[in-house]
Amino acid sequence: MFIYTLILTLLSLSPLMANEGPTLPKQKWSYTLGEKGSFDRAELQRGFQVYKEVCSVCHGMNLLCYRNLKALGFNDDEVKAIAAEYKVKDGPNDDGEMFERPARPEDRFAGPYANEKAARAANNGSLPPDLTLIIKARVGGPDYVYALLTGYGPAPADVKIMEGMYYNPYYPGGQIGMIPPLTEGQVTFSDGTEATVGQMAKDVVTFLAWAAEPEMERRHQIGIMVMIFLSILTVMLYLIMRRVWKNVQ
Ligand code: HEC
Repeated sequence: MFIYTLILTLLSLSPLMANEGPTLPKQKWSYTLGEKGSFDRAELQRGFQVYKEVCSVCHGMNLLCYRNLKALGFNDDEVKAIAAEYKVKDGPNDDGEMFERPARPEDRFAGPYANEKAARAANNGSLPPDLTLIIKARVGGPDYVYALLTGYGPAPADVKIMEGMYYNPYYPGGQIGMIPPLTEGQVTFSDGTEATVGQMAKDVVTFLAWAAEPEMERRHQIGIMVMIFLSILTVMLYLIMRRVWKNVQ
């Protein structure tokens, strides 16, 4: 019976152990607790610029509002100006008609397509997913998205790439319907940072990591405060204990 259960367990685990593509190279992320534990504003702003100028042509980030960008270090006027670059649908007006107006800070990010069919039609049948939570939604999170963005290359001779697909060993199945989105020098960073593919990928992934978990910094701060509180409490309890037991023989 035991052997039987063991075999069944191993069988059910085997798909999990199946090796899909190369292992993900581990990157150093400046915002993780082991490093700084907070996001670098310049990095976030560069990442947002890459999203805005490159990725947003195909990918929405529907859970973000323009005013959330204040957390990246933009002031009210800058957020207003960024929002005003986009059009959103509003209405109905007094005539019962829907109309378009420039977006305001409280609006959600405007998406690139009217609906899923339009998105698929523009991308050879593939659907570019919303990127707000993508870092949480994929195994490997930031390392995976970074590897995906930088991992394109010529397909090995024994791999047949289907029409409209591109070879990318990090995507399950090895071919993806997303054209390699980053090329050297594609954006111009105002802080003078050189826009290599690796740099843009790192910055945009950092921005996506913030978007997926904007409360991370506050959580780290609260965590540190709790640790300090517990340390003080421990010392106090120790002192009290010594006092209480002082006269007990
Ligand atoms: C020209 C359109 C286009 C652009 C520009 C683009 N993508 Fe994509 N992306 C797609 C499509 C289409 C898919 C779906 C691919 C598929 O299903 O095969 C996709 C899928 C993805 C995925 C999901 C992969 C998965 O595991 O499912 C991520 C992450 C992603 N893109 C990130 C980005 C980032 C970051 C940028 C900007 C640097 C970007 N994309 C720019 C079209 C685009």
